[in-house]
Order: sequence, then structure tokens, then C-alpha cells
Amino acid sequence: MTAKWTRRHVLDTDDWSREEIEIVLGQTDAMLEILSRPIRRAPPLRGRTVILFFAEASTRTRVSFELAAKALSADVTNITASGSSVEKGESLYDTVRTLQALGGDVVVMRHGSSGAPYFVAERTDAAVINAGDGWHAHPSQGLLDAFTLRGALGDLAGKRIVIVGDVLHSRVARSDINTLVPLGARITLSGPPTLIPTAWRCGDLPPGTSYEPDVDRALDGADGAIVLRLQRERQESGLLPSLREYSRVWGLSEARLVRMRPNAPVMHPGPMNEGVEIDAAVAHGSRSLIEKQVTNGVAVRMALLYLLAAGAPLDDRP
Ligand code: CP
Repeated sequence: MTAKWTRRHVLDTDDWSREEIEIVLGQTDAMLEILSRPIRRAPPLRGRTVILFFAEASTRTRVSFELAAKALSADVTNITASGSSVEKGESLYDTVRTLQALGGDVVVMRHGSSGAPYFVAERTDAAVINAGDGWHAHPSQGLLDAFTLRGALGDLAGKRIVIVGDVLHSRVARSDINTLVPLGARITLSGPPTLIPTAWRCGDLPPGTSYEPDVDRALDGADGAIVLRLQRERQESGLLPSLREYSRVWGLSEARLVRMRPNAPVMHPGPMNEGVEIDAAVAHGSRSLIEKQVTNGVAVRMALLYLLAAGAPLDDRP
């Protein structure tokens, strides 16, 4: 591989080249090998400190970054909004200065405000990884979804993937588009018009994507589906008639599954509202890659930590 890794932070993948995505996916294969060993540990981040700063709830992302950092022998410390001085009103700026003083080499952060990781990246010497900011981006999820889909489907060139559900509030949808389209996939977005960004619904769509308001038509002949969580905590009232109606019209049921190509995989970033956007039989059925996504998430996050913090001192990076 001739491309070289030059990123100091991972804030979004919207300006990444295909080569940069391939570097991460290639490193992920190497990290899976480490995770297959009897002792799942390697030394490249020995002496480095990774701070997990999660100001919003998380299970998968936080735990997988912690396992990833430990598998690479980093020291890890956790800060959450609840139980930290953020709860006492400490500003994001003062929290950043504190993280800096604590000597973190990498700050992995989740925040409810879009752009918060950019604010931190501009004010610290540490490498910053965005672990989800508001509606904006969730780059490590996009990368692990690409890795998982490629594991199931092989080359993604020309493959048609349906992203269905609450696209409007979904940082996962945006990051999936940013990673899957450069790898050659075509994306069909589907969901209630009230949960699709207005510009996209009116035809001003990201390259490589289309919008199909009828979910059954969207699924016809698709190579795979990514079901999005209905993000009720981010929604204004009045966007949906009822959860029952949403499930009936938009939910991925076994009856809808047969519209896709035989064995077309189903993914969901989690946490799931089972019985709302996805039926339990689909979520836990033979086509589901949902647990595989979680497992792959550790290896993808190891790859990101390795690329940002191993090797040359961070200060020598552009
Ligand atoms: N997919 C995802 O971000 O899950 P968590 O909110 O549990 O981290």
C-alpha cells in the first residue's frame, strides 16, 4: 500500500480518500489477528495514555475503545459527564485543559453537541477521536460498518445498501455514507419524510445516494440493509404518528427481509428498539451481523488508536 497515514485526529470521514479508509480497514485485519491470540495483547501503545471522555451515554463505543486501548497496552482512564466536574458546571474548555494536564496522548470523546470534538482538537496537544457528536458524525461506526459489510459481501463496488429509518437525527447514517460510498457502494435512503433531511428529500442528496420513500421498493433486490435506531431523545414531538404505526410502515420484519437478495445481511448500530425499527426475529436471525459489528468495533478502534498514537511521537505528525 503506497498511501501514508497523515491524520492527527479522527473527527469526521467526510473528507477522507478511499486510500485512507483502506489503511484503516487493512490495519483492522492486523488487529483481528492480535485479538485471535490466546493472550489478546500487543505492546505498541505501552506508555501512552488514552482518556475516554463520554459526555453522552454509550455502551458499545466506550467499552470497545477501552478494550482496544488495553489490547494495545495503553493506560486508560474514563471521564463521564455524570460523576465528573461537568456535572458541577465545568465548561468544555476547562475540561479540555484538565485532560491536557492529565497527560492524555489520545482523547476519545462523545458529546451531545455537534462539533465539540473539533473544539477540543484545537485546544489540546492530544490526538482526538470523535466517538459521536450530536447529529453530526460517528466515524469509527462508519468504518466498522464498512469493515463488517465488506467481510460479508466482499468488494462493495456496485453493491446497493439500504439505510432505513431515522436518517435526520443519525450521525451513523452520515458516517456510513462517508465510508461506504468511497468504497463503491450505492446507498438507498428510506424513512418517513419527517425523518429525512429536507434537502435530501428534495433531491439535493450526497453523491452516491438516492432517496426511496417506499421502504418495500427500497429493499427490493438490495445487497444489504442498515437499520437505524429511532432516536426519540433527539426528536421534536409530532414527527411520527405512533411507534406502532412506525413499526408497521417502516420496521424491518421477516416479511420485508425476503425482498432483499438471498442472504443479504442486516446491520444495526445499536442500541436497538426491538419491535419498533427491527423485529427481534430479524435482529437475532441468521442474516443479522449486529453482534459481528460489535466484535469488529474493537479491532477497528484498535486500528485507529494505533494509527494515531503508535510509532512517531505525536508532535512529529503534520
Ligand atoms: N453504536 C453506538 O454508538 O452504540 P453506543 O451508543 O452503545 O456506543
